[in-house]
Formats: sequence, C-alpha cells, structure tokens
Amino acid sequence: MQYQWYPGHMTKAKRQMQEDIKLADLVIELVDARIPVSSHNPDIDEMGKNKSRLVLLNKADLADEAANRAWCQYYKDQGMFAVKLDARNRSGIKEVQGVIQEACKDKIERNRRRGILNRPVRAMVAGIPNVGKSTFINSFAGKACTKTGNKPGVTKGKQWIRLNKNAELLDTPGILWPKFEDEITGLHLALIGSMKDENLNMDEMAMELIGVITEKYQGLLAERYQLDESLERSVVLEQLAQNRNCLKKGGGLDYTKAASLLIDDFRSGKIGRITIELPG
Ligand code: G4P
Repeated sequence: MQYQWYPGHMTKAKRQMQEDIKLADLVIELVDARIPVSSHNPDIDEMGKNKSRLVLLNKADLADEAANRAWCQYYKDQGMFAVKLDARNRSGIKEVQGVIQEACKDKIERNRRRGILNRPVRAMVAGIPNVGKSTFINSFAGKACTKTGNKPGVTKGKQWIRLNKNAELLDTPGILWPKFEDEITGLHLALIGSMKDENLNMDEMAMELIGVITEKYQGLLAERYQLDESLERSVVLEQLAQNRNCLKKGGGLDYTKAASLLIDDFRSGKIGRITIELPG
C-alpha cells in the first residue's frame, strides 16, 4: 500500500509547532493507546527535548487495560510522565491536572527561587491527526475556563486557556504527521482509521488485524464470529465472509466487505479491547 501526505502541510505544521513549543514548559503528546509506536512522530522528541513531557495514551477505552498499564510504565521508565485517558468520556482528566503540576515541579520551584510566584505553567498539546487532541482540549479546559487572550510574545491569534491558577493550555494543538517508517506503521495507522479508507487495501488490513488478534487475543474472533482461528489468515477471512453472508452482486464471496466489517467492529471496540502494539 502507498501512503502519502502533502509535504506543504507538513512543513507548515511543523514550523508552527516549533514556534509554539518555545512558549511551553510542558509538551503533552497524545498517542493512540492501541498503537502508541505508530501514532508517535519522533520529531517531537527533538522539538521537545528541553521540555517536560507528558504522554497521554488516549482512546484507552478501546485498548487492552493490561497493555495501557504496561505502556504507562514504559514511558515512566523513559523519564516521561504518562496517563491513560478516555478524552471522550473525561475518564483520566482529573489525573492529568495533577500530573501537569508534578511534571512542572522543577520549573515552578525555579520560578519560586527567583521570586516569581503564581506564574502558571504553560502546556501545549500535540499529536498526529485524529488522535483526540481537540476532544482532549475541550474536555480538559471545559466551558468554565477563561481564555487569557493574547499576551506579548505570543504568536498573533494564539490563546492560552487558564486551567486553574497554576496552569495554562495553548488552545490550538500542534499537529504532527505520522511517520511511515515501514509498511507496518502505515497498516496500523490505517487500521485505527487514521487515513481515508478509499485508497486503502482493506483485505491487507484485515489480514494484519486477524494476525494480531489470533496471536495476542486468542478466542476473541472465535467467540464473536465463530471462526476457526487455527486456520490461515486468508481462510479466516473467507470464513468470516461466509458466516456473515458477505456476497458480491454477481455471486461469490465478497472478501472486501468482510474485511470492512471486521475493521469497523475493531475500530468501534465491538471485538474487544485490543492493543495492536505492545511495549518491548
Ligand atoms: P484530533 O483533534 O486529534 O484530530 O482528534 P479529535 O479530537 O477530532 O478526535 C477524533 C475522533 O476520536 C473523534 O471521533 C473523537 O470523538 C474520538 N475520540 C477522541 N478521544 C477519544 C477517546 O478517548 N476514546 C474514544 N473511543 N474516542 C475518542 P469522530 O468519530 O471523528 O467524531 P464523533 O464520533 O465523536 O463525532
């Protein structure tokens, strides 16, 4: 499969982010909890290298709970802060408030020693498209928060949202573009719905998904679709087409329809809570 982004947009977004990041004490990166590796763009490591880092494993409601915990530990081992989150249902939001203070403790202490009191720490949100940045900002900032307006040194049009007396959040997130380092990264991003389905090979995506689920989450496919998981992936897909009566107009099994059905069920969490990429 070929994956393409538009270099013009990417360059502009990156430049914008480089500017914004200078104003922040803390970089809050959202990744998709189902694919924390593929939904992370390593450029942010370079851009945020002198900042505190908080990783939010968003859409944790769709991911495997044990894997969420393992990932949180993984990031902590790397010296970052991490929280699992369901931004849509606001689950985990409270914890984020506390962790922001914790992550900026050194900065607050430095300010205090220099006699600067009550200066809120500033955080900016970043992540690849569709990872839940806007949902998070809305859930987190809530309606009650006031925008603090433009301030000197802030790019025109930028607004800081006062979260509480200790923290402010930049209202526009930084957009990172996925980095397709290999075919698998592209496949995984496609599976979670990060790319327009029109140009994708659904059969190939379904095969990858069947492989992951039968290997790491044995029994889930057998239970939901009455499939024999010991068979080859292509045969499993064929069985699914049969069991769900996916037929082409002129007759014969419609594998692509079966693949779409499987992928839709995965994306909406109907098959179960599945993490495609595990740490280590
Ligand atoms: P972005 O700014 O990073 O591009 O992402 P955005 O907030 O627009 O969220 C993308 C999609 O992900 C939205 O769904 C949003 O509701 C969903 N989403 C965000 N956070 C979570 C989460 O923690 N769990 C789950 N399950 N979903 C989440 P959508 O289908 O595009 O819109 P809608 O169905 O909400 O209208």
